[in-house]
Amino acid sequence: MRILAILLCLSLGYLVPDQADAQAQIDPTEGFTSLPLTQSNFVVQRPYDVPVDQRYSLEDGVHKLWVLDTDKPHSPTSQTKPRTEIRITGYDYSSGVWQFEGHGYVPSGTTGVCIMQVFGAVGHATTFMLRVYNGTLYYYRSQVLLENIYDRLFKLNVIHDVDNSNVKIFIDDQLRLSVPDHGGASHYFKFGVYTQDNSSHYMESRWRDVKIFKK
Ligand SMILES: *[C@@H]1O[C@H](CO)[C@@H](O)[C@H](O)[C@H]1NC(C)=O
Ligand SMILES: *[C@@H]1O[C@H](CO)[C@@H](O)[C@H](O)[C@H]1NC(C)=O
Repeated sequence: MRILAILLCLSLGYLVPDQADAQAQIDPTEGFTSLPLTQSNFVVQRPYDVPVDQRYSLEDGVHKLWVLDTDKPHSPTSQTKPRTEIRITGYDYSSGVWQFEGHGYVPSGTTGVCIMQVFGAVGHATTFMLRVYNGTLYYYRSQVLLENIYDRLFKLNVIHDVDNSNVKIFIDDQLRLSVPDHGGASHYFKFGVYTQDNSSHYMESRWRDVKIFKK
């Protein structure tokens, strides 16, 4: 039975039960090296017909990104839904163990939106999507990561172990999910707001202390 359960966990990914929370707090960045990051590593993608300052601001170290569901895509040739996202450049990767850290904030009312993603996969566009639906953080639309996240800061750590095809999601220093990745040979991190299904008209997320780590 035990072996079967472990095999199931390995193949499907596992959710870490809430009861384990109290003793599960760790520093996800232990053993990792922080990489230098400046504003030049942050490329803002926003609806192509709108000036950047109408969808993005940086004040007191807080990146605020917002978008409307009626906005245009980020380029005239794109067929994707509206987004205002920061694409991290300079650290595209294809092997090794990489980590994104950031303190996120989602105002009440923002829903149906991806607020952070690991780009690059086989048969999908992404390896990981962190989405918000109705005040809850989700892995894509399939698994609840944390409820009641409106109007408060949360700390997000995403570890992508390319060599072992694994993604681990930590929220507030607690492991919430460990799942297989989606393959692919080139990856990078993005955060902000990218419209998904059942979205609100207005979507916003804010981020501070964004860091990239490598093992
Ligand atoms: C969020 O609420 C809307 C409206 O009630 C509903 O259509 C949608 O399915 C919900 N989303 C999730 C992921 O539960
Ligand atoms: C939510 O989105 C799904 C998929 O796009 C759609 O089928 C469904 O009707 C939507 N629900 C609402 C309440 O808008």
